[in-house]
Amino acid sequence: MPVLDEALYDYFRRSDRMGWSPYDLVERDSIENICRPERLDEYQRSAVKTVLFVEDHLPGYLSEYLRIMIDPETFGCDDDQLITNRNTLHFTFRWVAEEDRHAHVLERYLVQSGLCTRKELAEDMLRERKQAYIFPYHQLVEGFIYLALQEKATHLYYRALARDVDEPLLKTILTKMGADEASHGRFFYDMLIKSHRGDLDGLSKKISAVANDFKMPVQNNLLNYRRQLLGMMRAAPSYRHPDVFTDMMDAVEKAAQSYGRDSLQLITPELGRFIERDSTGGRAEEPSQPR
Ligand SMILES: [Fe+2]
Ligand SMILES: [Fe+2]
Repeated sequence: MPVLDEALYDYFRRSDRMGWSPYDLVERDSIENICRPERLDEYQRSAVKTVLFVEDHLPGYLSEYLRIMIDPETFGCDDDQLITNRNTLHFTFRWVAEEDRHAHVLERYLVQSGLCTRKELAEDMLRERKQAYIFPYHQLVEGFIYLALQEKATHLYYRALARDVDEPLLKTILTKMGADEASHGRFFYDMLIKSHRGDLDGLSKKISAVANDFKMPVQNNLLNYRRQLLGMMRAAPSYRHPDVFTDMMDAVEKAAQSYGRDSLQLITPELGRFIERDSTGGRAEEPSQPR
């Protein structure tokens, strides 16, 4: 529970500082003075729609997470687990609110910029939402690793797309969304790393196993998924999917170094400081730096 409390505290403090509204980002002034939709190529326009479809699957994600977290019959949870699950829902509710603003801001952007009509887009979104979302893991740790990788993939993709488009308003929107995704990823990293403090090698092995089988969010839910995915990759050529796995493994590695130093200092503070200075020549990074 202390691990969850700490991760929740850090997440909520970040989230409170990072608040933004789809109505501030996409309004008449920003559309008239900043937005240059004619600068987007065909792949970039369709990538924005694909991203919206992924974000807009939220009612499906939320009902699945609630089913997993509150139904004691589903996974045979004991009382302690159910109490923890309720506390984890503090994260879930804020998290889905932030994911919802991603869908909301992209829908507003596509319509207000004139790239899509409201009716056409609403029908596309309805069609793409129809397939039920099934959470692919039944083990908590594997599920959290999967979510961490998914959040990191969306963070790195939004960052790459923001870099690769030449449309100022879309760049701003993607940068805000990317920061949210980084914060979500960080919550799962914190939970996993802190709860595996004594067994980070074991965590690395589990990450490798989940990453080997990793599929992008709602891979089974979008129509013509392969074509849509190909379009996303063409729209953001600077995106490198292997970086997702590397980022998470780097976070575990940093934590291992930091924890190793902590334990040296716990045993013999003077010797620990001496060894740290001697072997690294400087201060090592904290495991929980913003990523
Ligand atoms: Fe999102
Ligand atoms: Fe996210």
